[in-house]
Amino acid sequence: MDKIVIQGGLPLKGRIKISGSKNAALPLMAASLLTDSKLILSHVPSLMDIQTMMRLLKVLGIHSSMMFGRLALQAKGRRGHEAPYDIVRKMRASILVLGPLLAKLGKARVSLPGGCAIGARPINLHLKALEAMGAKIKLEEGYVNAVCPRLKGARIVFDDVTVTGTENIMMAAVLAKGRTILENAALEPEVTDLADLLNHMGAKIAGVGTSTIEIEGVDDLGGASHTVIPDRIEAGTFMIAAAMTRGDVILEGLNPSHVDALTQKLRDAGATIESNGSRLRLIGPREIKPVDVKTAPFPGFATDFQAQFTALMSVANGQSTITETIFENRFMHVPELNRMGAQLEVKGNMVVIKGVERLQSAPIMASDLRASASLVLAGLVAKGVTDIHRVYHIDRGYESIEKKLRRLGAKVKRAKVRY
Ligand code: EPZ
Repeated sequence: MDKIVIQGGLPLKGRIKISGSKNAALPLMAASLLTDSKLILSHVPSLMDIQTMMRLLKVLGIHSSMMFGRLALQAKGRRGHEAPYDIVRKMRASILVLGPLLAKLGKARVSLPGGCAIGARPINLHLKALEAMGAKIKLEEGYVNAVCPRLKGARIVFDDVTVTGTENIMMAAVLAKGRTILENAALEPEVTDLADLLNHMGAKIAGVGTSTIEIEGVDDLGGASHTVIPDRIEAGTFMIAAAMTRGDVILEGLNPSHVDALTQKLRDAGATIESNGSRLRLIGPREIKPVDVKTAPFPGFATDFQAQFTALMSVANGQSTITETIFENRFMHVPELNRMGAQLEVKGNMVVIKGVERLQSAPIMASDLRASASLVLAGLVAKGVTDIHRVYHIDRGYESIEKKLRRLGAKVKRAKVRY
């Protein structure tokens, strides 16, 4: 088990390159199940979740090899249709193999992902949509057992906006018989990136980037080469870090339009932000102004920025509120930040923040991916040295975070812990 050790108080200065998006790469990898041809994905981040998906795809008959961010995937030999519990429990995004398995093989046995630190994370909307397309689904022994010789197109209205739900059903529909219409579909850039790949493979998807997506089923799909979009959550996390440390950071290789809502809120907090093409510069404010935030599906303020923005507001000059509307338990970072001297109070789905002058270092523990990021940000500004335990959460979603922070002048290192 590792911990990250951070000496607080240094402004981040310099430039960093944004990695490929974890939440785009995972569904793109699952799309390899839809074809017998080769898929080449470039700009794939080197993360634990990517390794986990490679392991899962291998069990399903897709062999993959990764070199310098270039991932080649190809079906070889017998295909499997079962996604086992011991892999799925490590990564909920494994549920993304359900749609493509059903579409390609007509059957799938996928372990139920179960909940996680931020909420129950049900998949009822995924299953309801597949049943509308003709799948027979039974939940037995903790597994989803789904069968359908050939899915048929249907009109599906999602009760809630669901990112992986939209991705799963889009992948099920591309090989279905007839037309599928998805209403109230997710608008996240990762959904658009998946649709772009599927269309390059020969799918017929229209309306991408809107809440109504139309998919004309085809009989088979070919291979393709595709570059993964930049990780907007990594980019936003570093933007908040630059603002919080009153630094001056240039981010390269991001898509500024993917972080518009966050950019607006950081400007309201006093940051100076200029962007052109795939470059964005953020100069942190001398005084951080309090700003109220409410999370929402894209293009609203992303829930994946909520914990990090809470850390920023904990050292703002005044009171603010942050309302979490997507997940029911995404405040695991709050007690840890309070141990560092923050004054945060959770009231239902809102956290009320009284900004303090400075946080104090303390040994703290990461609980989930984005909460861990918020603790790293807090460590960057806290007085003294902060130890953050259970950093494996961070490694799931941030490529070499301490290397990137060191490049920006932070005093941060990883250390082994013998528990
Ligand atoms: C995706 O999760 C992301 N993960 C999450 O990022 C992100 O926080 C989330 O979207 C919201 O933007 C990946 O893309 C791999 P949802 P997902 O289905 O698809 C409810 C990270 O930090 N819901 O959009 O699982 C659900 O409980 C991760 O990288 C149902 O009720 O989220 C939640 O309240 C964390 N039934 C809301 O919808 C369903 O069948 C949105 O969930 C599906 C979802």
